[in-house]
Amino acid sequence: MAPMAVETLGLARPLKPESSRTKPIMYRTTSPSPVAVKTDNIYVTFEDGSVVIDAVGGAGVSILGFGNQTVIQAVKDEMDRCGYVYAGLYSNAASEKLAAYLIDHSEGDFAGVNFVGGGSECIESCLKLAKQYWWERGNTIKRRFIGRKMSYHGNTIAALSLGWHPVRRVPFASFVNEDMFSWVSPAFYGHGARPGESEEDYATRLADELDAEITRLGPETVAAFVIEPMVATSIGAALPPKTYFTKIKAVCDEHDVLLIFDEIMCGMWRTGRMFTYWRIGEGVKPDLVATGGG
Ligand SMILES: Cc1ncc(COP(=O)(O)O)c(C=O)c1O
Repeated sequence: MAPMAVETLGLARPLKPESSRTKPIMYRTTSPSPVAVKTDNIYVTFEDGSVVIDAVGGAGVSILGFGNQTVIQAVKDEMDRCGYVYAGLYSNAASEKLAAYLIDHSEGDFAGVNFVGGGSECIESCLKLAKQYWWERGNTIKRRFIGRKMSYHGNTIAALSLGWHPVRRVPFASFVNEDMFSWVSPAFYGHGARPGESEEDYATRLADELDAEITRLGPETVAAFVIEPMVATSIGAALPPKTYFTKIKAVCDEHDVLLIFDEIMCGMWRTGRMFTYWRIGEGVKPDLVATGGG
């Protein structure tokens, strides 16, 4: 196949010519991934005998580590006690216990938990819950979602659409429904603030931008604004400027727009508390939180 150009979001990328795949798995890149054969403590051993140290204990979204006997025993015990039952018909004791634990430890912030299979699905569920929330209240036109530039919220279609990260979206840009998703600036003081601008003034400017975007779209059509309280993958542990949370929450409240926090990457004690917004969120409470791993 001749190389083709894909042009979207201002990026042009040649498609690689057909690769000479010799393995059955379609890897995430065109070259085969090294095959891990053993994990022990902090070490991962590969087929060719090479060993690397995994300094984070797993993928960003699931930090289980390796060979943790407490985790292994808990999984074995649960498989012995109660195997998989179809979630469409049944609940199970472990899910009930975990949900109760999460609610009991949410300091009154949450009333319900919905379990799904991964981070992208979790974001999709939040978008659907937000949409359904408005629907149940008789508002069927609130359908739009505002995300932030430079964000990443996962790989499934709606999660990819909500995120902005061009490199990850380029081949799939035709899926993105521009009527449903739009983006405001990231809260990234180091890159986004003007010379001499204080954190507070920068936060005001970002909140004004959100306000203008909601107004442009029509507040009656905007279902939710979605942010990562601390941006993890895409811009690297970036904290919002002081007063940001308070100001964007005021804008959301003014326009009846839900606020959703994506803590898939930064939540579950990764920053010292169960939720990162408890540490940095200025007391602002979101309507929905996507969280996982940890
Ligand atoms: C902030 C954020 N949200 C959602 C996801 C998607 O999670 P998953 O890869 O489990 O689908 C990621 C993955 O890196 C993420 O960083």
